[in-house]
Amino acid sequence: MKYNRRKFISFLGKAGLGAVIMPQFLIHCGNTTTPTKRFTTITKERLEKLKKLVLEGLLPSKKDDLLVANGLDYHTIIKWGDKISDTDTFGFNNDFTCFIPFDDTNPKDGLLWVNHEYVNPLFVSDFNPNKHAVPSKHRTIEQIDKEMYNVGGSIVRIREENGIWKIVKNDPYNRRITAKTPMKLNWDTPIKGKTTVIGTHSNCSGGITPWKTFLTCEENYDNFFGETEYDQNNIASHRPSTEGWENFYKYPPEHYGWVVEVNPTDGTAQKHIALGRFAHECCTVYELADRRVVAYSGDDKNNEHLYKFISSKPSSLKEGTLYVADTIQGKWMALDWENQPILQSKFKDQTEVLIRAREASKLLGATALNRPEDIEIDPITGNIFVSLTNNKSKNDFHGSILKIEETNGAFDALTFKASTYIAGGEKNGFSCPDNLAFDLSGNLWITSDISGSDMNREGNPYLPFKNNSLFVIPRYGEDSGKVIRVASAPKDAELTGPWFSPDGKTLFLSVQHPGEQTQDKNNPTSTWPFDNEGIPKPAVVAITGDLIEKMNKLNQIEA
Ligand code: FEO
Ligand code: CA
Ligand code: CA
Repeated sequence: MKYNRRKFISFLGKAGLGAVIMPQFLIHCGNTTTPTKRFTTITKERLEKLKKLVLEGLLPSKKDDLLVANGLDYHTIIKWGDKISDTDTFGFNNDFTCFIPFDDTNPKDGLLWVNHEYVNPLFVSDFNPNKHAVPSKHRTIEQIDKEMYNVGGSIVRIREENGIWKIVKNDPYNRRITAKTPMKLNWDTPIKGKTTVIGTHSNCSGGITPWKTFLTCEENYDNFFGETEYDQNNIASHRPSTEGWENFYKYPPEHYGWVVEVNPTDGTAQKHIALGRFAHECCTVYELADRRVVAYSGDDKNNEHLYKFISSKPSSLKEGTLYVADTIQGKWMALDWENQPILQSKFKDQTEVLIRAREASKLLGATALNRPEDIEIDPITGNIFVSLTNNKSKNDFHGSILKIEETNGAFDALTFKASTYIAGGEKNGFSCPDNLAFDLSGNLWITSDISGSDMNREGNPYLPFKNNSLFVIPRYGEDSGKVIRVASAPKDAELTGPWFSPDGKTLFLSVQHPGEQTQDKNNPTSTWPFDNEGIPKPAVVAITGDLIEKMNKLNQIEA
């Protein structure tokens, strides 16, 4: 496998259209816009072609199927339970996907990383949570072990032949990372007495590093091993989890809620303590000219915060400072125990500040946001886009996308300007934005996350939007700025993890939790992907077709 570090060409992202320079090495989660050449101006001929590109969007649908717009096609690459080797199977509830080719000159053969966020015990461990008020009291350790196996992530080699992506079964790179896989903490101080901890779970979205490793983010970690909470006198107590794994395995909550880095070649993993502990949705990394890195991450919970880490050394996710955003005043505030007396008043050291990042952020006056989820960097302007999914407690039902413009376009700036790029709602035709991805031409793709308990319910503000979907906001041409629905998810599902292949011809996409509202396995609400077993299965699909190619090529700004 080639791991050549590409030469960095400094990013002049704020240049106006007509002299746009794309960064040579811009990488982030959900976005393989890793430009390999400079882009400058768009030719008149191209613009004329663009104007003729007609996008026929889908209408909202309640159908139990993955529907795609005219000009698109899809095939399933892998689904829950499929064998990836003689010993391992693909996990449940696939979310983030990330594809790294073995060789930059061949975009059709490489390693696919897939997050497995959580399980539905009804399907995975043959336990019906609907029949028991306290699930943890009615499961055996064997059932818990099955659940722990089905979260984490998968590495699978995939190859495209004749337009179809297939997994290479039993490839030596194929492996599972699970809630049982030991992994090191990338930190000098042990946490709860350990420097190696057991497993990862709650793996929602993620990212990729400039040195081509996968980042997988632990989001709703408190569902599995609970949380340590502190009262007004700073006295700790345990809040039990909903899934009750801590009743079987005594792993401390503090070992979870981190950004985890996985080496694709050998599957070794480490947790990056310096990036803080909270419900990490994603981790979007940008490499500066001097090879220091900036890593953005949102805490997907009502009224939580937006963070960025700036490293002080090249290629380090350990040495540096974690900042939290004040989006009103446009300030990044350092979560730095040494230099912030207010943090010293509550926490004993920097490790405790990072473990209790939410509380530390509130002490500094960080802005409460409406569930910050995925983050992407616009490859044309360098602006940072953050999905704010919703916040029902503040009557924000449909969410919005926040735009962050760092001062002078410098990713390591400590000031910025924040504004709303687009708001969800009936006028704009989408609700609850979650994952984001820019394609090779800078079109913005968005998936929605209307929760299963809200979708298609009478008298509910989400009713007009029907099933969760994939949307695109074209950058050029007559549809520029419009939100166009290009795929509609099966029943109860959410489309997640959009990631473009390096040649821009395939959009990898997860179909997560189809049939999630099922009460009785014999009568599921969905049977997608229709594999004759009569139950729904989360799966990763490849979306291909003329439209993807036109969006990626016709719109492309050419030198
Ligand atoms: Fe797992 Fe915030 O989505
Ligand atoms: Ca993304
Ligand atoms: Ca998500």
